[in-house]
Amino acid sequence: MLELTPRKLRLLDYYDDGEDARHFSFAIESPWVSDLQTIAGQFFMLALPGFGEAPFTYVSRPDSQGHFNALIRRTGALSNALFELSAGAVLGYRGPFGKGWPLFFSTHQVLVVAGGCGLAPLAGLLDEAASLQLPVHLRVIYGARRQATQVLGRERERWKQAMDFIETFDLAVAGQPQGSPLTHLAPLFAKQMPDAVLCCGPQALMQATADSCVSLGIPANKIWLSMERRMHCGVGLCGHCYIGASYACVDGPVYRYDRLQALQVLSCEHAPAG
Ligand SMILES: Cc1cc2nc3c(=O)[nH]c(=O)nc-3n(C[C@H](O)[C@H](O)[C@H](O)COP(=O)(O)OP(=O)(O)OC[C@H]3O[C@@H](n4cnc5c(N)ncnc54)[C@H](O)[C@@H]3O)c2cc1C
Ligand code: FES
Repeated sequence: MLELTPRKLRLLDYYDDGEDARHFSFAIESPWVSDLQTIAGQFFMLALPGFGEAPFTYVSRPDSQGHFNALIRRTGALSNALFELSAGAVLGYRGPFGKGWPLFFSTHQVLVVAGGCGLAPLAGLLDEAASLQLPVHLRVIYGARRQATQVLGRERERWKQAMDFIETFDLAVAGQPQGSPLTHLAPLFAKQMPDAVLCCGPQALMQATADSCVSLGIPANKIWLSMERRMHCGVGLCGHCYIGASYACVDGPVYRYDRLQALQVLSCEHAPAG
């Protein structure tokens, strides 16, 4: 059954987490079994009375109390209104929707490449790997313009204790690597070829990462990207989120790279940037 009517969601708490970004804690009233089965990388629709709905990803998946977290940037009308609310406010919720990151059932060397707020959809997966719930060895390259634009400060401190976590900056930051995440790919591949690559960030970064990984020997069917499109219904009805012949709200937002190539959205023919 298509979930079109928002359910009640309560804003529990929030704190600033990066420039113009906030970490929100929410509680779904009377969570459903499907909420507990959320996969990292899936998304939900957040409704604010008078401002409509917008899609956001889970930083942590709903627990048995319906509690979960999200990292939300202040970009337009809905997020501005959200930033004005106080704890206790009642909002609307639909989800979980779409396809999340692949599930790994055997030991895998996984490379994660994230840019800016693109770290948020990967957070659930990183937490599961850090707490040894997943049979994966993760290495992360996280690129940001500068320190102030980095997000998920508390989570990053935790992840750095549990995995190789490289931070890079477009602008010079004392004592930190400078440059695009792409500059780290070849050296990391030389140490250990990953079995799979997961990437989320600006589309230019994802395309260049995917193309570079292919040229370094990773098959396109071992690369996954999370694609952002405008979404209205979230359930494959309105047609706003099309990517080639697919709807990102249902067939994505996480796509395997070879499938995106088949949809003629991204292609290996683009020269790697960086
Ligand atoms: C699957 C998915 C997951 C997302 N997860 C998150 C998340 O975890 N955190 C977060 O902060 N944001 C996330 N977003 C983006 C978020 O949904 C948009 O920024 C949303 O439009 C904010 O609503 P608004 O009313 O505040 O801004 P709007 O007024 O809708 O938009 C502000 C500006 O952003 C542009 N814009 C809006 N949506 C998109 C889009 N999809 N692609 C390109 N440009 C767009 C608009 O043209 C406008 O210039 C996600 C989007 C998708 C599709
Ligand atoms: S958002 Fe309506 S079809 Fe995808």
